[in-house]
Amino acid sequence: MSPDLRTLAESDLPEWLRALNNAFLMPPTVAPEEVAARRPGIDLERTQGVFDEGRCVATFRSMPRELTVPGGGLLAASAVTNVSVTATHRRRGLATRMMSRDLTDAKERGEAVAILIAAEYPIYGRYGFGPATWINEWDVDVPRSGLDRRWAGPAEGRVDLMTPAEVRKIGPELHERVRRLTPGAIERTDRWWDLDTGQLVFPSNPWKEPFYAVYRDAAGRVDGLATYSIKEHRWSNKFPNVTLETGKLIAASPAAELALWRYLLSVDWVTELKSGYRAPDDILPLLLGDPRAARTETNADFMWLRVLDTPRALEARTYAGAGSLVLDLHDAADLAGGRFRLETDTDGRATCTPTRDDADLSLDIAELGTLYLGDESVLRLTALGRVTERRPGAATRADTLFRTPRRPWTPDGF
Ligand SMILES: CC(C)(COP(=O)(O)OP(=O)(O)OC[C@H]1O[C@@H](n2cnc3c(N)ncnc32)[C@H](O)[C@@H]1OP(=O)(O)O)[C@@H](O)C(=O)NCCC(=O)NCCS
Repeated sequence: MSPDLRTLAESDLPEWLRALNNAFLMPPTVAPEEVAARRPGIDLERTQGVFDEGRCVATFRSMPRELTVPGGGLLAASAVTNVSVTATHRRRGLATRMMSRDLTDAKERGEAVAILIAAEYPIYGRYGFGPATWINEWDVDVPRSGLDRRWAGPAEGRVDLMTPAEVRKIGPELHERVRRLTPGAIERTDRWWDLDTGQLVFPSNPWKEPFYAVYRDAAGRVDGLATYSIKEHRWSNKFPNVTLETGKLIAASPAAELALWRYLLSVDWVTELKSGYRAPDDILPLLLGDPRAARTETNADFMWLRVLDTPRALEARTYAGAGSLVLDLHDAADLAGGRFRLETDTDGRATCTPTRDDADLSLDIAELGTLYLGDESVLRLTALGRVTERRPGAATRADTLFRTPRRPWTPDGF
């Protein structure tokens, strides 16, 4: 009997979570309290499992999310997560079956794109996803950073340490502003904030209270929040040697961003600062007296994107100016392919309609996913043979339209 793929029932959840732990190489047994804590975060209607002789051997689920696109618009996205196939059942097409089903459902639900964080690079390109945002992680050698150790706080505004309860109150409003300024960002749910501030704790993942530094501008408006923790206190020969790990740092203004980084870099005893995953063009290295003190620890793809509704996705974002392009999109899954004319006006607003005109560029739907948020160069993909220029100069024109001044960034995993 071939394994049975089905939408999850309430009673399947413990076995489903066990399968997820198996594939993610975590201790498999899931306590009933853990199941209860996780249950509200799982939409069973959007959750699939594959069962073989009653044993769950594959997991998959998705969630509705709003993705910020260039220009600040919010686009309905299906955020895919918990994709797993138990090692005993790998490479038999189970992930492909679950993905195909969810992408078709997402399109029917009216979600214009699907997004996910790929555990490994080679998995998702075949399903039409392309890497759309990247992250960088720096390790700063603080004594060599060339920063003035006499720094006594920002010239304007102030930084204060706040309690988890205070952050639970002020964080959501701040993040709502920040995410609209950040193409590539998604919303943070109430549950996200409960988990972040210790109001909700999974038994398998005990919470340790971090420090929360909040920046308020001269008028008292909360414009920035940085979470950080200290890994261990190391001292040698009476010299402090302490590593500060940045959790999340979000800022609604350049002043807030600068003040919070400056604050974190000036905490006494700290000799090493780990930045956490940041936008690849974060200001961090350049605010140091000596940017070489910021060594890149990680530079990698982060969020992958799959276009499901080409006109809606392309009309949701803005472009660098007026222009016209005919894109010939190949989509093996037949979800979003075809030939489309993208017409943009001087304000950067777009219309996108099916056309029979000759194509300027032809590309796979996965490459459109990579280009969509403005992070990748069309010329670079053309040089790689992944975009084909049908009309001379079209790749340069497309680059001018699609690229954004700052790189997109996805601050949160999901
Ligand atoms: C990644 C994973 C979900 C793939 O599941 P699967 O059921 O084995 O995938 P499929 O059988 O549907 O594979 C489809 C294709 O992708 C390829 N593929 C799958 N996983 C791959 C990987 N990690 N690296 C390279 N290729 C991979 C398969 O070889 C197959 O190629 P083919 O079509 O040319 O034959 C599964 O191996 C797994 O659970 N891994 C551990 C957890 C994990 O990384 N999950 C992803 C979280 S984002």
